[in-house]
Amino acid sequence: MIDLHTHVLPNLVDDDGPKDLEISQAMLDKAYSDGVTKIVATPHMLKPNPNRRTEINEAMCFLHHENISLFPGSEIFADEVILKDLENLIPLGNSNYLLIEFHRAELPHNVEEIIFLLQTNGFECIFAHPERNGSIVRNPNNLLPLINTGVLCQVNAGSLLGSYGKESQKTAQILLEHNMAHFIASDMHSANHRYYSLKEAVAVAEKYTDPLALVTTNPKTILTKGYLEVSEPKEYKKKGFWFLKF
Ligand SMILES: [Fe+2]
Repeated sequence: MIDLHTHVLPNLVDDDGPKDLEISQAMLDKAYSDGVTKIVATPHMLKPNPNRRTEINEAMCFLHHENISLFPGSEIFADEVILKDLENLIPLGNSNYLLIEFHRAELPHNVEEIIFLLQTNGFECIFAHPERNGSIVRNPNNLLPLINTGVLCQVNAGSLLGSYGKESQKTAQILLEHNMAHFIASDMHSANHRYYSLKEAVAVAEKYTDPLALVTTNPKTILTKGYLEVSEPKEYKKKGFWFLKF
């Protein structure tokens, strides 16, 4: 399996990952025992930082695992501030795919403009854990206009496992059932309470879709500089109390 979203690099400014290299190594060991062989390190990028790539590359020099290939990346807080520094945005591996997150409560009012700006500057966008965003929890169909403009969606393993609560869990299930999830990734931050097993998440996801491509071929396509074609998303229709009509 390939994990596209992790906070595995130790002691990085602006990130909330492991405090030391020993914990990073333990995270890689756990991931390998779960069947992961490729990991993208995606520390937060919260504001413009022309030194971020150097910081990430330096941290990666110290982290090795004989059975895991490690790639640089970032999780970019997509707002107007960071978009003023497009040339320093860090995509996943050697691809042009950016892993982007938004404020947890809401999508920005100009989300489509933000996406358009990134796309017209040569990037593709992967929306990190949309099932944790208030706007998507309230109505999963709010993802449809974004997916229809080419945005891909990455669901967190922890959401499927119920680690962020029932609403995120339910929303993650809906996204899987409606072709609105294109990747499952761990978003792991530690080797213990914030370690989320991809293997366990895939086992849960099997109730809602065939999840294997979401942790194998789909992320592989991204990392090999391919363009990922995805299935048409299906509109979510909330189950009503139809029997009350009679
Ligand atoms: Fe993250």
